[in-house]
Amino acid sequence: MASNRMVFLGPPGAGKGTHAAWLAEDRGLQHISTGDMLRVAVKAGTEIGLAAKVYMDQGKLIPDDIMIDVLFADISDTGWILDGFPRTVAQAEALDKRLAEYAAELDGVVLFEVDRQTLIDRLMARMTCEACGAVYNRLHRKPLVEGVCDVCGGKLQQRVDDRPEAVTERLAVYDKQTRPLVEFYDRTSRLTRIDARGAIEDVRLAMEPLLP
Ligand code: AP5
Repeated sequence: MASNRMVFLGPPGAGKGTHAAWLAEDRGLQHISTGDMLRVAVKAGTEIGLAAKVYMDQGKLIPDDIMIDVLFADISDTGWILDGFPRTVAQAEALDKRLAEYAAELDGVVLFEVDRQTLIDRLMARMTCEACGAVYNRLHRKPLVEGVCDVCGGKLQQRVDDRPEAVTERLAVYDKQTRPLVEFYDRTSRLTRIDARGAIEDVRLAMEPLLP
C-alpha cells in the first residue's frame, strides 16, 4: 500500500498523532489532526472553538456537520494523513464523496490496534506543550527537562480530556461511534492493521513497508 492520501484510525492513545507527525515530516505530506485543529480554535476562542470545547472536555464527539466543515476548509489537493477524521460512518461517507468530486480516492487506512489498559496508561502519562502542541509521555517519551518542551521551551500540561472520567467516555465513544469504521473500510479492502502495542520505534519499523 504506497499511499499519499491516508487515514490513521484507532482509539484514543493508539499513537495516531505520534506516527502521523514523523511520517508527514519525513515524506512531505500534510498532517491533518482534527483534534489539533479544534484545540487551536478553542485556544483562539472562535465560535467553533467555544462550541467544540463543551464536547471535547467531556470526551464526546463534535457533531458531524460542524466537523465536516472544519476538515474541508483545511484539506489540500496534495498528499495528506488524516489523524482523527473520520470518526463516524457519516464522516467517512462525506470524505469519499468529496474525493470522488475530484476523481480521487483514499489510498489506504491504517488501523492502530492497542489493548485497552495500554491505551489508558499512555493517556494518563501524556503531556502536551501548551505553546506548540508537541506531545510527550511521562513514561515513554520524556522531555529533556521535566515539564518543559524540547522544541519551544513551552510549559507541558495534561490535556483536559486525558483526565480519567473523560478517558473512560472517549473509549466508550470510540467503541460505539468510530469502531464501525473498521468494518466500513475492511469491506472495500482499504484497511491495514498495525500491532501498535510495542515501543514507538518498533511500531514505526512495522509501518515502513506500508508507506509511500
Ligand atoms: P483527538 O485529539 O483526535 O484525540 P484522539 O483521537 O482521542 O486521539 P489521541 O490524540 O488521544 O491519541 P493518539 O492516537 O493521537 O495518540 P498519541 O500519538 O497522542 O480528539 C480530541 C477530541 O476532539 C475528541 O474527543 C472530540 O471531542 C474532538 N474531535 C476530534 N476529531 C473529531 C472528529 N473527526 N469528529 C468529532 N469530534 C472530533 O499518543 C498518546 C500518548 O502515548 C502520547 O503521550 C505518546 O507519546 C504515547 N505513545 C504513542 N505511541 C506509543 C508507543 N508505541 N509506546 C509508548 N507510548 C506511545
